Amino acid sequence: MLLLLVSWRGRGVFLIISEIEQKFCAYLKKNSQEFVETWKQKIIVSQGDPFREEIIMNGENLLFSIISLIIGEKRLEDIQPLCAKIATERAQADVNIGEFVHNVNVGRNELFEAMCELDVKARELKPLITKIHSCFDQLIYFTVLKYSEIITKSLEEKQQFIDETHKERLTILGQMSASFVHEFRNPLTSIMGFVKLLKAENTHLPYLDIISHELDQLNFRISQFLLVSRKEMWNEKEFFSLNDLFHDITHFLYPSLVNTNVSIEKNMFYPIGLYGYRSEVRQVILNILMNSIDALEANPKNRKIVIDTFEDESTIHIIIKNNGPMIPADKIETIFEPFVTTKKLGTGIGLFVCKQIVEKHDGRISCESTPDWTRFCMTFQKKTKETTLQ
Ligand SMILES: Nc1ncnc2c1ncn2[C@@H]1O[C@H](COP(=O)(O)OP(=O)(O)OP(=O)(O)O)[C@@H](O)[C@H]1O
Ligand SMILES: [Mg+2]
Repeated sequence: MLLLLVSWRGRGVFLIISEIEQKFCAYLKKNSQEFVETWKQKIIVSQGDPFREEIIMNGENLLFSIISLIIGEKRLEDIQPLCAKIATERAQADVNIGEFVHNVNVGRNELFEAMCELDVKARELKPLITKIHSCFDQLIYFTVLKYSEIITKSLEEKQQFIDETHKERLTILGQMSASFVHEFRNPLTSIMGFVKLLKAENTHLPYLDIISHELDQLNFRISQFLLVSRKEMWNEKEFFSLNDLFHDITHFLYPSLVNTNVSIEKNMFYPIGLYGYRSEVRQVILNILMNSIDALEANPKNRKIVIDTFEDESTIHIIIKNNGPMIPADKIETIFEPFVTTKKLGTGIGLFVCKQIVEKHDGRISCESTPDWTRFCMTFQKKTKETTLQ
């Protein structure tokens, strides 16, 4: 006859415990020492595991926890702290969690061996077997879950540490190179000044134009670098003439335009004043024009750049287009990002600097490219003397 006992599990829940389960648990309790001893001989423990002693203690505790679960003295939630403790130790020991799973299953098999001692028909043991499987499965589940959480967290912390250290190094490197480049500026400015003087005093001295042009290029590169490193180097914001700026720039680029046989058409039908840092806006337009000249080298002839400037009630528009090769759609998304370049000697920071400067002036910059034209469009909000004072 099968005798059923009822165990109070709190919150109005009763658990039905069979006589077989009672008998089995009593047997386990009585032979626990022997049971743990046999289990100890069969488990795997890595050499150098700092928790060797703990593993045996945890094994004992788990055995008593399983007994308590079977007879309803404990609920699954009650064994979670023990699972968390084991998970933490396994993570700290830095061994494969597979060892723990193996050792728990050794315990499970030992329990089934012990069941044979009960002298009960296999069919009657079925509910007990199901209960034991469920307890062991949950125990493994909780522990492995906690273990994975700990390992993931620790990996994330390590990654964050690596990222932060890397960022710090990059910042220091950036600062170092910025101040290095900054140091170039003073001698460069005085060399440029003296070359101008030489030119004024010796109008027929050869090569001065070339030296001057090369120094201007170097100055442009240095300015670009300093802009990326965000060292403020320009003066106050001011109203300046966009028409004059384009005039200066085309003069500056004249040798390159002649060299590459590029023609420039300027559609600037009335004067436009822009409020901002003239030198920075100059840098933007120079970058776009220099890129256009580079791109046009792919055209065997008919190399053209067209500049349109106009304004409506609230906005100033600058459009610079060239009839060079089309920028593929997938590349156009990335050209404003730093270090994106298709040129052998490019640094890929030109358009990045452009975007930064335009946005600093509350403006927008975009690029669209078709087989006929590649167009860079910029818009700036129109400012008046009154609005700039607000
Ligand atoms: N007008 C254009 N036509 C075709 N491709 C362009 C044009 N402007 C830019 N690009 C593409 O965008 C890339 C990025 O331009 P960006 O000015 O940022 O860098 P770069 O010119 O390669 O190098 P850097 O300007 O730093 O010397 C270029 O390498 C080129 O592939
Ligand atoms: Mg460029």
